Amino acid sequence: MKKLTIRRPDDWHLHLRDGAVLKAVLPYTAAHFGRAIVMPNLVPPVVTCADAEAYRRRIMAALPEGLDFTPLMTLYLTEETDAADVEAGFRDGLVTAVKLYPAGATTNSQSGVRDIARVYPVLERMAEIGMPLCVHGEVTDPRIDIFDREAVFIETVLDPLRRRIPGLRVVMEHVTTREGVDYVRAQDGTMGATITTHHLMINRNAILAGGIRPHYYCLPVAKREEHRLALRRAATSGDARFFLGTDSAPHVDPLKECACGCAGIFSAPNTLSCLAHVFEEEGALDRLEAFTSLNGPGFYRLPPNEQHVTLERRDAPVAFPAKVETGEGTVTVFDPMTPIFWSVSMP
Ligand code: DOR
Ligand code: ZN
Repeated sequence: MKKLTIRRPDDWHLHLRDGAVLKAVLPYTAAHFGRAIVMPNLVPPVVTCADAEAYRRRIMAALPEGLDFTPLMTLYLTEETDAADVEAGFRDGLVTAVKLYPAGATTNSQSGVRDIARVYPVLERMAEIGMPLCVHGEVTDPRIDIFDREAVFIETVLDPLRRRIPGLRVVMEHVTTREGVDYVRAQDGTMGATITTHHLMINRNAILAGGIRPHYYCLPVAKREEHRLALRRAATSGDARFFLGTDSAPHVDPLKECACGCAGIFSAPNTLSCLAHVFEEEGALDRLEAFTSLNGPGFYRLPPNEQHVTLERRDAPVAFPAKVETGEGTVTVFDPMTPIFWSVSMP
């Protein structure tokens, strides 16, 4: 197949940041994606509806003219989150989901949740109103090996939470393990999972073999090859519980290339082209649209986008920018380590 037209995709997990970085990175997502679930881990985080409203305005102000894009806002769950504020934001259509970061799990998660029991009242209210919870599924206990943190989270936090509040609609964000995929598959339609482009393309060797490569470091960290293959099977299966969340997460290069680099891979400029490559390799191009454009809206109870995008397989590799200038420094674009032949256009 040389040419493929699909419904315009959405990104169900995206970091847009703020200020100059927001302005520099937003056009890459808005060029291809109709909507995105925007992560709230700013400094300070987006915790109230007033914060979300102000952030949404800054995003719309940064959007280049002529691009049609809708940010779907999230609230950062803290132990002080007010259930009434969350409900009001959801009912108004201002806020689409709430994000649970275990405190200390990742970038700017210090204000996250330490004791899950303290947020049960908010989660129970969300279950009543049908509002989704997006979960960063890793434990933070320093005794747990970083490569095991997702599997241990499922066993010790996620599964007990699901049993306690079975009506809560939960998205396991950026699932990275076979255990995660198997867990989601065993659940009913109240559970979904996002998968990133980079976790479909790299395993942990990309970070560590033959030198340390900080631009492949993200959280959850990429795992062994068997896990990448399990993610590929899930993403290309057509199973409605799995959908795209790129977790495109820009950090300026000095914050990545240093003694203690930040977690995050910036993939917005080439993510769709890379996905077409993955689905072609798996012989599943006919299921790409389900993963990028149909399953996510299905879970979030939104209609699929009306517009379409066309993916075209070129005879020569497509060139992508290696770095994006932001005004606060350069951000390195995800390098898939293989030539990519798919270009994207909007008909
Ligand atoms: O790699 C990541 N980067 N994982 C996260 O959970 C956060 C994100 C960020 O904000 O940079
Ligand atoms: Zn993220």
